[in-house]
Formats: sequence, C-alpha cells, structure tokens
Amino acid sequence: MYHFVKLVAAASAVAFVCLAPVAASAMSPAGNEAMNKAGEVMFDHRCRSCHADDPARSSYGPSLVGIVGRKAGTVEGFAYSDAMKSSGIVWTEDALRGWISDNTGVMPGTRMKHMSISDKTEQDFLITYLKSLK
Ligand code: HEC
Repeated sequence: MYHFVKLVAAASAVAFVCLAPVAASAMSPAGNEAMNKAGEVMFDHRCRSCHADDPARSSYGPSLVGIVGRKAGTVEGFAYSDAMKSSGIVWTEDALRGWISDNTGVMPGTRMKHMSISDKTEQDFLITYLKSLK
C-alpha cells in the first residue's frame, strides 16, 4: 500500500512537471500579438511619459529597450539614483513584476515614482510588450 501511494505521488509530480511547459506555450501567434498590443496600450498609459521604447531617445527615465535580462542601472549616460546603481538587480520577468507592483517598496530611494500595477493580467500584458523591445 505504501509503495502504491508513493507511486501515485511520483506519477502526479511527473504529470505536473510535464503539463507546466505545455500550458506556458499554449498561446497562439495571434494570442501573442494580442498580448503585445494590450501591453503597448498599458505602456502608453503607464510608462511612456517617462520611458522611451527607442534606444536612441533619452527621456525622464532610461530607455527600456532590451530591459528583460539587463542589469539594473546600466544605460550609458543616464543619471540613476544610488539605490538603483547599487541594487545588483537583474531585470528578470519576476523582478519586473515586483518592480511594477511596488517599486518603491522593492527599492527605497529610487527616483521612479510609486507604481502599483498588481493585476496579474495587466502585468502579463506589460511584460510581453517589454520582451518585444529589442
Ligand atoms: C514618472 C516617471 C516614470 C514612470 C511613469 C515610469 N518610470 Fe520607470 N523609471 C523612472 C526613473 C526616473 C527611473 C530611474 C530610477 C532610479 O534611478 O532610481 C526608472 C527606472 C525604471 C527601470 C529600471 C531601468 C534600468 O535601466 O535599470 C525599470 C525596469 C522601469 N523604470 C520600468 C517602468 C515601467 C514598466 C513603467 C510603466 C509601468 C515605468 N517604469 C513608469 C521613471 C518613471
């Protein structure tokens, strides 16, 4: 009996591991395009006043082109806060989610005004769009 229970537990663990990537890649190209457009709308409303999506244009905030995977505080010539320069953050998707849901909580002393986008779907939209900025 004990072995049977262990086997079932192992089988469901394997099923979980196998299903997770399938769920993540289920989005069709049209779905991705829709996510990206929704993200652009979010970016226009919440970010564009301070962040360019063009690497050559500086703004009140640093350009966000190539932000996913970039080390924090590394846009050449931008006057970052000391908090940002010494943060050691790398902008993974998770770090970006944390940042847009409560940046001033994550990094007291940042020069970016408080942002509180806590809705998971809105975060997904924005992150899809940020990923497209290459
Ligand atoms: C009112 C202006 C303003 C708005 C609006 C704003 N930001 Fe910022 N952002 C800044 C400033 C200024 C910095 C630099 C902060 C520092 O040096 O502490 C910054 C920094 C960042 C960084 C770190 C960049 C780097 O090079 O390390 C990310 C990521 C970021 N913002 C994302 C966003 C996103 C996504 C939005 C929209 C949801 C947004 N910001 C909205 C002003 C803004």
